[in-house]
Amino acid sequence: MSRCLIVYFSQGGTTALVAEHIASGLRGSEYEVDLYNIGEGAPAPLDGYDLLGVGMPVYYYRPPFNIADYLESLRPLEGLPFFAFVLHGTYRFDAGTAVRRSLAGKGGREVGYFHSYGVERWVGYLNEGYLFSPNHPGDGELSRAVAFGQEVAAHAAGREYDRPPDDAPPSLVYRAERFLTNRWLAEHLYSRLFRVDAAKCNSCGVCFDRCPNGNISRDRNGRPVWGRNCLMCMMCEVDCPQRAITSPASWAVFRPIMKFNASRASGDPVIDHARIDRKTWQPLDSSGGEA
Ligand SMILES: Cc1cc2nc3c(=O)[nH]c(=O)nc-3n(C[C@H](O)[C@H](O)[C@H](O)COP(=O)(O)O)c2cc1C
Repeated sequence: MSRCLIVYFSQGGTTALVAEHIASGLRGSEYEVDLYNIGEGAPAPLDGYDLLGVGMPVYYYRPPFNIADYLESLRPLEGLPFFAFVLHGTYRFDAGTAVRRSLAGKGGREVGYFHSYGVERWVGYLNEGYLFSPNHPGDGELSRAVAFGQEVAAHAAGREYDRPPDDAPPSLVYRAERFLTNRWLAEHLYSRLFRVDAAKCNSCGVCFDRCPNGNISRDRNGRPVWGRNCLMCMMCEVDCPQRAITSPASWAVFRPIMKFNASRASGDPVIDHARIDRKTWQPLDSSGGEA
C-alpha cells in the first residue's frame, strides 16, 4: 500500500475539512494517509511517504508564515509526487502558485492542485459587517475534494497530468496590502500592538488556546501577552468571548482598505457573503450558500 503525508494549516477548520475529504478519496484508492495540522504541532518527517499534500488558507494573498516555513524546511523532494490545496474567502490570487512553485523548486512532481472557498472570519471584514463565503466549503466542494483525492492517486501512479495554469497575481492595490502585512512588520510592529482591555478580560484563556503559534503567554493576572511570532490570524481578537482584545487589524487607519476590499468582494457575483452586525458580528440575514 502507498503512503501519503498531508500537511496543512487550519485555524477555522475549513482546510482541515477539505484535507479529510481529499484523504478519503486517497484511501479509496489504496492509500494510507497521515494528516498533520501544523497549527497543532510538528508534522512527521517525509521519509517513507510516496506522496505529499500541502494545504492552507490564503492569508493576505499569500501562504501563512507557518506554511512558508514548512515549505522552506523541506529536504529535496527528488521527484516525489505532490499536490497542493488552498482555501480562500475572497481572492486567492497567486498564493497557491507560491506553494506549487516552492514544491516544484524542491524537485517535486506536481500531480494535483485544488482550491475551494472557505468561510472567512477575518476581523477586518467582520468589523465592516461582512462574512464572506459563509457555508463554504459546501457539499459540492467537498465531493470535489474526494474526487480530487482519487485523481491525485491516479496521476501519482502515472496517469497523464495536465497541470492547471498558474493563478493570476494580485493587482497593485492588493500587492500593496500584501506588503503592509509582511513578516517584518508583523514581527517588529504589529505583534507589539495588540491590546487587552483589563476591565473586560476575565482571564478565561481562550486567546491563549486559540493561538496557532503558541505566541500568547499569560501575565500574572492570567491576561494575554503577545510574543513576536504572530501569524496575524487575529483569532485571539475574533474569538475573545469578552471582546476585550484589539488587534492592529481593527485600527481606524486600516478601515479604508477594509471598506475597499469588502465593497469589491461583496459586489462580485462569484463570491458569497452574508451581512452581519458590525458591532456584534451576529447574522443580519441568511444570504450565502454554495457558489
Ligand atoms: C488573517 C486572515 C487573512 C486572510 N486573507 C485572505 C486572503 O488574502 N484572500 C482570501 O481569499 N481569503 C483570505 N482569508 C480567508 C481564509 O483563507 C479562508 O477563510 C479559509 O477558509 C480559512 O481556512 P481555515 O478555516 O482552515 O482556517 C483570510 C483569513 C484570515 C483569518
